[in-house]
Order: sequence, then structure tokens, then C-alpha cells
Amino acid sequence: MMSNRSYFSWRHRRHNFFTNIASHVVKLSILFAVLLTCRALQASDNKFWWGIATSPYQTEDPAGSDFKTDWDLFFEAGKLKEARGSGVFSYSEVDRDIRALKELGVSHYRFGVEWARIEPSPGVYDELALDHYLKLARKLKSAGIEPVVCLWHFTFPAWLANLSDPERSNWLHPETSAHWKLYVEKVVKLFGDQVRFYAPENEPNGQSLAGYFLGSFPPGEKYSLSLFRKSVEASAEAFNSAADIIHTLNPAAKVITIQNMIAWERPWWDITGYMMDLGHEYNYSHLDLVAKKADWIGFNYYYKLKVSPFPNPRKTHPEGMEVLIAELSARYKKPVIIMENGIADHGDEERQAYLTSHLAALERARKAGHDIRGYFYWSLIDNFEWAYGYSEKFGLYSLGSRRDQLIPKKSAELFAEAIRKDRTQQDASQKN
Ligand code: BGC
Repeated sequence: MMSNRSYFSWRHRRHNFFTNIASHVVKLSILFAVLLTCRALQASDNKFWWGIATSPYQTEDPAGSDFKTDWDLFFEAGKLKEARGSGVFSYSEVDRDIRALKELGVSHYRFGVEWARIEPSPGVYDELALDHYLKLARKLKSAGIEPVVCLWHFTFPAWLANLSDPERSNWLHPETSAHWKLYVEKVVKLFGDQVRFYAPENEPNGQSLAGYFLGSFPPGEKYSLSLFRKSVEASAEAFNSAADIIHTLNPAAKVITIQNMIAWERPWWDITGYMMDLGHEYNYSHLDLVAKKADWIGFNYYYKLKVSPFPNPRKTHPEGMEVLIAELSARYKKPVIIMENGIADHGDEERQAYLTSHLAALERARKAGHDIRGYFYWSLIDNFEWAYGYSEKFGLYSLGSRRDQLIPKKSAELFAEAIRKDRTQQDASQKN
């Protein structure tokens, strides 16, 4: 017969044995679940991304917030024909926009966070605004749409703008770099593991050109090639610091560039090739400075244009997108992604033709074997088109007579159909 002591120690061992097994089972199941989630995430990341791109200043209504950007100052200074006013109510009508995204069947949504809204005065953060963006990311995820966050899309908080001294404004403001790092940190910490894809800047080359050479964007300087170059360099430094912050705070996150790329055409009189060199500089000078830190090379492509100081028409040229995909892949040897592509059209015929021809060019580039990860159409809704005000219409939807209503155009159906077709093909080829 077992003594009391040995009976209890036997029971104790048996108890330990079972609790050990149970704890191993729990640990293994957690590990298994984590592995499954990672595999599922990887599988969805490996699928071609179909997305829509938007920006905060062009679409959001202020919704009771009190903040100002350099664009508001620019308007007040009489430099714009139209103010952005209430945008297309994308701040207060998030559910409306998500409904449209679901209708289109996109896998990814590129939206931006408005720095001035988040930090209306230096070092003061608006918790409600931060919460709004976090909720937006969560809502997208629960709708099965992956958020891709752009941290800067042309606009600066007004307190970093100095229209009377462009050399000390925007990216060139002496305080920008320090505040930018804190802002990036704040946003990346806010999103935590809800956001895995960041684009620190949208078209810093385009904004530097428009702000320092064309004078059409704040700070409104004209013909200064040297300030254009300084601005490109300062924005590249800002990109690299943002990439470091993102990678440190969220090692799983991918950092994507968004460069404006133009299919440049050489004018007959550019005998020395000087103008073409400037075109090349426009496309590549910023990218060359940031490509190392970026995980993917993203670019916006719209048209072909003569490199010339004289205005000349933008030409639709889908082949240009293919050439740029090939050029970028060869130059940086990293995955490439189209972060914006679209056309302004008052009706919708031209947009349909544009979309069809560019999707065909994309298909050719994919078949040619380039590592191309996705395509974002610009944009969801006709919105505030910067210096053009509301006169240029890029949307797949227009705003209805009620603010919670979006009216789809024919091109929205066309895009949705292209996405459906490609998804079916991808699913079939994954099964084989
Ligand atoms: C910009 C968008 C703009 C679009 C159409 C892109 O260069 O990123 O903000 O609306 O072009 O003009």
C-alpha cells in the first residue's frame, strides 16, 4: 500500500505532468496560430495589390478641428483660385468611402494622415485626430482592406511655412527636421501592428519643383533650381530618418517611396541634352538618395511631357509606365509598385480608355517578369486638385447631392471588373 506521503507526491507528479502537457499544448497552439497568421499575411502580401490612393488635404473636411496648413496660408495670400473648403467630406464620411472601396474590391487603400491636424501647434498633438486615423485603419482591416499610410502628401503645418522667406519654409524650415521625426514616431507608435506599410512622402520631387520652380505650390518661389535641389535633399533626409524610425518601431513594416515619374520627351532643340538631363534629375535625384532605405520603389505615373520651360500638352502614353517599371527595376533591384495612376476627365470616356490602356501596359510589364507588386488608381472621388481647385476630376466616383452618397462612374465598374478577373486568375494559378 502506498503511504500518504508517496501517494501525495505521486498525485503531485501526475498533476505536474498534466499541467506541463497542457501548457505545452497551449504554447504549441499559440505558435501554430502565429505561424498560420504569418503565412496568411505573407500570402496576402504576395498577391498582387489592387488599390486606391487618396490624400488627406484633397478629401477631408476640417470636421470641427482648428488647424492650418501652408496651403491655407497660400490661399489667404491670394495664390490659389479656390480654397479646399470641406473637401469631399472624407473625414466625417469614412464609412461611405469604405463602402465604395468594398464595391471596387480593392485589397489595399492608400490614405494619408494630415500632419497639421495631428499637430496643430508645435509639440501639441490632437488626440481625437490620432484616434480618428487609428479607427480608420482598424475599420479598413475589418473590411478586409490593408491600409497603406502616407505620412506627408504636400501639406505642412502652417507653423512650418514662411511664404515670405521660401528658403526657410516647408522642408527648408530650420525646425522641420526635428518636428518631423517626433511626428513620424508618434504616428508609427499610434498604429502599432495595425499598419504594416508606410510611404513617408508623396512626390517630394513634384512638390519641390512646384514650390521652388513653377511657383504653383507653397512657398511659391519661381525659377530657383538651387532651392529645388535643396528641397529635394532636405526631403530625402527626412525620408531616410522616417524609414529608420519606422523600421525600428515596427520591424515587420515595409517602407515605400512615392516618386513622381514622367516619361520625358526630348524637344528637337535640346541639342546638348541639357533639358533631358534635368528631366532625368527630376525623376531620379530624390530616389537615388533614399532607395537604399526603402523596401519597395513606388512611383506615380501619369503622362509623357516634353522637357521644356515652355508649357506643352501632357500626352497619354501607357508604354511610358512599362519603360519606367523596367528602368526602376534595373536601377534599384527592388520590388516596384505603382502608387498612383489616373487622368482628369470631365466626362468618363477618356478615363475608361486611359484605364484600359494602362492596365494593359501593366499586364505586359507583369508578364515580362518584373517584380511589380501592385497598382493604385488615383483617385476614389473627384476632389480638391491643388492649384486647379475642383475643376479637374480624377475620381472613379463623384460626390452625390448628399454628403454620404458617392456616385460611381463607368470607369469604377471597369476597374472593379479588372480586379475581379485578376484575382480569379491569381487564385487559380495559386491552386495549381
Ligand atoms: C498627386 C496628387 C494629385 C494627382 C493628380 C499626383 O501628382 O500626388 O495629389 O491629385 O497627381 O494631379
